[in-house]
Amino acid sequence: MIHKLSESDPTASTRKRDHIELAFQSQIEEGKLDNRFYYEPLLSGHPKAEVTDSFQFLQKKLRTPIWVSSMTGGTEFAKTINQNLARACNEFGMGMGLGSCRSLLYSDEMLPDFDIRAIIGDLVPLYANLGIAQLEALIKQKELFLIEQLLNKLKADGLIIHVNPLQEWLQPEGDRFEKAPIETIKIILEYVDFPIIVKEVGQGMGYESLKALFQLPLEAIDFAANGGTNFAKLELLRSDKTKQDIYSKLAFVGHSAEDMVEMTNRIIEELGDKRKCNQVIISGGIRNFLDGYYLINKLPLPCVYGQASGFLKHARGSYEELRDYVGAQVQGLELARAFLKLR
Ligand SMILES: Cc1cc2nc3c(=O)[nH]c(=O)nc-3n(C[C@H](O)[C@H](O)[C@H](O)COP(=O)(O)O)c2cc1C
Repeated sequence: MIHKLSESDPTASTRKRDHIELAFQSQIEEGKLDNRFYYEPLLSGHPKAEVTDSFQFLQKKLRTPIWVSSMTGGTEFAKTINQNLARACNEFGMGMGLGSCRSLLYSDEMLPDFDIRAIIGDLVPLYANLGIAQLEALIKQKELFLIEQLLNKLKADGLIIHVNPLQEWLQPEGDRFEKAPIETIKIILEYVDFPIIVKEVGQGMGYESLKALFQLPLEAIDFAANGGTNFAKLELLRSDKTKQDIYSKLAFVGHSAEDMVEMTNRIIEELGDKRKCNQVIISGGIRNFLDGYYLINKLPLPCVYGQASGFLKHARGSYEELRDYVGAQVQGLELARAFLKLR
């Protein structure tokens, strides 16, 4: 039987016309190739649409190696954002850190913004979040018991501590740390028996700080590296002109996620069996799945990659918008797994 082309491939003629018209707009400039990967088109079929494999991370099960980085609550959009993100985590098997839960320590007024365990489900990790300044205050006031109450309220699996000296310094209403954060973290670790993660907020951390953290029994370290959202810059935008002029260069201080992966690899070798922390969230300035795929494959520890602003852009409106964004990233990661090997 003879088929007409228009029946077996109905879009063929418009497609061919598109190809001719768009070819000249589709030239890749010299020197722009992504040299991080070997591209291996012969060694795999296309990935399946559904991801079913799961892996252990932070004592729970993930299906996607992506972490939703901490973002704030207590604002008008926070509830919608957190609920959308929790739904996506449930659907795609991702873990999530809540934004600073300081407002819940002494009151339940804001609880509905953060109360997402029923949406995210029990299978994936959900972490509460407090700043190091708050923890210093809780230690001083002998109120560390409030942290466990907070975790119980939220049905959270553990606590993320954010360490943000530059943000606090530049924030008009910022706190001051009396002690080195590493000392405060050690006191917290002695006191609590739930998992603790430590992160920056978008400036990253240098070699000595990272090495000190890897020797503590932390559940994970979250890089929160420089290269994306930067709170030194953000707080300066909220400040006066003099402060902006004096401090603006501080935004460029810090470490990228790639820099931190390299330091971590050195630290792993140097510490040997003195290393007590085994899991990492690679975050800060991760713009897409290719960056994430590259970095999680450069680190020989159980790790996922995290994004804050990347999710925020798509989480303020309908769930469908966020779902499309996350779905495309997850499929991108599968495509990378099938066809890209690190050089
Ligand atoms: C709107 C917003 C609010 C944030 N609030 C918090 C917070 O409360 N606690 C925290 O640890 N980090 C907070 N962060 C920092 C992020 O968790 C993350 O470390 C940082 O944005 C870098 O990631 P990115 O480059 O993917 O945005 C916030 C980030 C954004 C964009």
